[in-house]
Formats: sequence, structure tokens, C-alpha cells
Amino acid sequence: MEQSKADVPPTKEQSAYEKLKKEEEDKVKVEADYSSGGESDNETEIIQLDVPKSYIKYKLKPKVIGDNKITFYDAEDVEFYNRVLPEPLLIVWLLSKDSKLLYTSKRFFESGWKNNIQVYIRETHKFDLVVSQEGLSRIYYDGKVVEKLPDCVIPRLGANVDYFSLAVVRQLEKAGVMMLNPISSLLVSKDKMETLQQLATASLPIPKTMIARFPIEENVTNQHFSYPLILKKSSGSQGKGVMLINSQEHLSDMGDMLDQSKPMIIQEFISKSSGKDLRVFVVGGKVIGGMMRIAKKGFKANFHQGGYVRPVKLSAAVEWLAIECARLVGLEIAGVDILIDHDSYKICEINSSPGFQGFELATGIDVPQQIMEFVKLRSGVWKKTSTLNQQKNVVLVPVSAEHVELGKSQSLPQDK
Ligand SMILES: Nc1ncnc2c1ncn2[C@@H]1O[C@H](COP(=O)(O)OP(=O)(O)O)[C@@H](O)[C@H]1O
Ligand SMILES: [Mg+2]
Repeated sequence: MEQSKADVPPTKEQSAYEKLKKEEEDKVKVEADYSSGGESDNETEIIQLDVPKSYIKYKLKPKVIGDNKITFYDAEDVEFYNRVLPEPLLIVWLLSKDSKLLYTSKRFFESGWKNNIQVYIRETHKFDLVVSQEGLSRIYYDGKVVEKLPDCVIPRLGANVDYFSLAVVRQLEKAGVMMLNPISSLLVSKDKMETLQQLATASLPIPKTMIARFPIEENVTNQHFSYPLILKKSSGSQGKGVMLINSQEHLSDMGDMLDQSKPMIIQEFISKSSGKDLRVFVVGGKVIGGMMRIAKKGFKANFHQGGYVRPVKLSAAVEWLAIECARLVGLEIAGVDILIDHDSYKICEINSSPGFQGFELATGIDVPQQIMEFVKLRSGVWKKTSTLNQQKNVVLVPVSAEHVELGKSQSLPQDK
């Protein structure tokens, strides 16, 4: 039987939210920048956008992004992002090292509101954590006891995550908060060597890699690697700390120059992939999309190195590879970087808090919306009746979700 929306009576939260939505129906037309990706730097045009009148005072810089026309208000006045929803269905904390409101956080806020999900930024260094024989007894934020834990925490801490931030993630997770991504996966993914060790256990395709040790053991490096090779920090991001090394002398010289307390890895250079790679976005065990990143110059394809981005349709095999990588590391949200060798793909690294400015521009896929959908699913929110209910919600998949009957019914012919 088909289940209609009317089967589920609106909750108190939904009615308060509906009221807010009604207030936002009073709209004005403003000009917005529309960019749809591409290989020119100036592919933006101005289009008209309907914006709730009550938003205008926050000095918006409205944008419309990608082929699916994602609306992004991008308010200059950060007061906009301090907005509190009347009765949210869920509370989500973005765990961050600072309070800087960049593209990713602003997009999370705006997407949360659309789903009646209240997003707050919580800075890791403002926490105090107490444990005692009574258990994980107290969590303080900004000197005040946290009375009500959020429904979900999304750590956005990057590869250089510090001891303190990890302790915050661990305590919240142990206190029963849904952690996307969990602490165990952050510990693996922050370390490129550990990630590759994990992938190697499943014989997944990776570039040959070893931990760098200086002075180098020439016998070993020469046996396994030829030049040029890649030398990179085991924890790094945005292409910083990744170098191409042309000769043994060059490698030795680098060893003399580098801070040897920071772990480095030596890696086979996949020359066929020079200046381009695939970025596959995985959310909740599912690929939400993929893009090709192409460097303007040099061998690093990172968007933040000033590269181009282009949407790609991924084969089922590449999707499987990316999902398998995320699963082996334990990530629910993952950006998997894949190098393209002569005849096969090789996993470069896996990011636990991937940025998505370039990805949204290239693919038009609304990343925070996909993440919010997953948070709603995992917390059984569509059956939730009260925000005061601190009990764990069962994951129940609504029947109407993805259950569309296609085509005619078929049956085997009956034997006479
Ligand atoms: N072994 C390699 N062979 C070819 N290109 C590589 C290799 N390792 C890294 N790169 C290039 O450098 C970029 C950055 O490297 P990556 O390991 O992903 O570091 P980061 O964490 O800084 O993004 C990659 O996106 C890729 O374009
Ligand atoms: Mg990378």
C-alpha cells in the first residue's frame, strides 16, 4: 500500500517550522552571481533571485552554484548564522578549530535551516572535559556546563587535527553522540601512511609507499623506487607538503633540510596522473558524485592549488573502490582522491573533512543537503516526537523513501 504524507501527523516542531517558513515567503528580487564551473576563470553571470525580505539586512552576497542551481546566501554579517530555529528537529554541531565562517560552514548552516536542523559551530579549544568514577561526568563549553548534547557532531578538523580536538571528539562519541566521522576513522585518515597500510590489508590498489627515514637507506629506496618520486608529509592537506623529488641527491638534501620530527612518506610517482586526479565523495556508504581535478600548472591537482574541476560519471567499479576505502577506514563522510595510472586506478589518500566548494561548482550536487539527509536517516528523525527526548532513536527507513515501482509486473510461465 502506498504511504502518504498524511499518515504521519505533523509534530509540534514541524508546525513551528512551518510558521517560520510562512514568514519567509515574503520575498524580494536581488541580483545573484551564477557560476556553473568550466575552465575559464570568469564564467559567472548575474541572475535574479527571490530572497526572503527578512534576510536582506544581513548583507547577503547571494550566489547560485552549479548546474543544479544551489542557492547560497553567503551573508557578510555573521549575525545571520547565529540565527536560532524555533523548534528544530535535530541539533548538529560542526566541530572546528576556530570560528572562521568559510564557504563550507556557511553552506552547512543554510542547508540545516532548510531541513529544520539547527547547526552550531563549536570550537574545540573552548571545551573542558572531565572524567571521573561516575563516568564521562562533565563537558563544559566556554566555561559553562553543556546541559544538552547535540544529536550529531560533524568534526571538520582537517588532517592536522591535534590531541586536544581528538579528545573532545572521543568524549562526545563515548557520551553517545552520533559522530560523523567517528574518532577511530579520524585517527587513521589523518595519517596517510596508516591509511595506506589499512588499504593494503585488503590489497586495494595504491602507489608503492614507505615511511621516509633520513639518512636514507639507499639500497632499499633504489630497490623499490625510481626517480622522480613523491615526498610528502604523512599528515597534510591542500597539496601543501607534497613534493616531486628528481634524484637521490635531491632526496638526501631534503632530508637535511626537513624537520625530522614530522613524519614523511616516500611514494611512487604516478606520472600518468600528473596534474589530474579523481575526487569521489562518499556519504553514508554511498557515492554522491565525482569530479576530475585538473591542475593549471604543476603535478598537484588540488582545487586550492588553483586547479580546474569538471564533473565525471563514475563506473560502478570506481564507486565500489571509493566506498570500500571509506569502509576500511571507517569514514561515513569521505573525500577519496584517486590517481589515474596507465591501466588502473590507484588510491592517493582519503580525507575525513573534505571541503566541497570545488565539488559543488563542478557537479551541482548539494553536499550538506546529502549529509543532512544521512543525519536524518541515522537519527530516525522523521518519527521523532520531541527534542527533549534524549533516548537513542532507532534507524527506521520511511517506506515512501525510494520505493518506486517501475514497469509492468512479470512472472514465469506456469508449467501445464
Ligand atoms: N604518488 C603520486 N603520484 C602522482 N601525483 C600525486 C601523487 N601523490 C600526490 N599527487 C598529487 O598531489 C596532490 C596532493 O597530494 P595528496 O597526497 O592528496 O595531499 P594533500 O593531502 O595535500 O591533498 C594529489 O591530488 C595529486 O594530484
Ligand atoms: Mg588530497
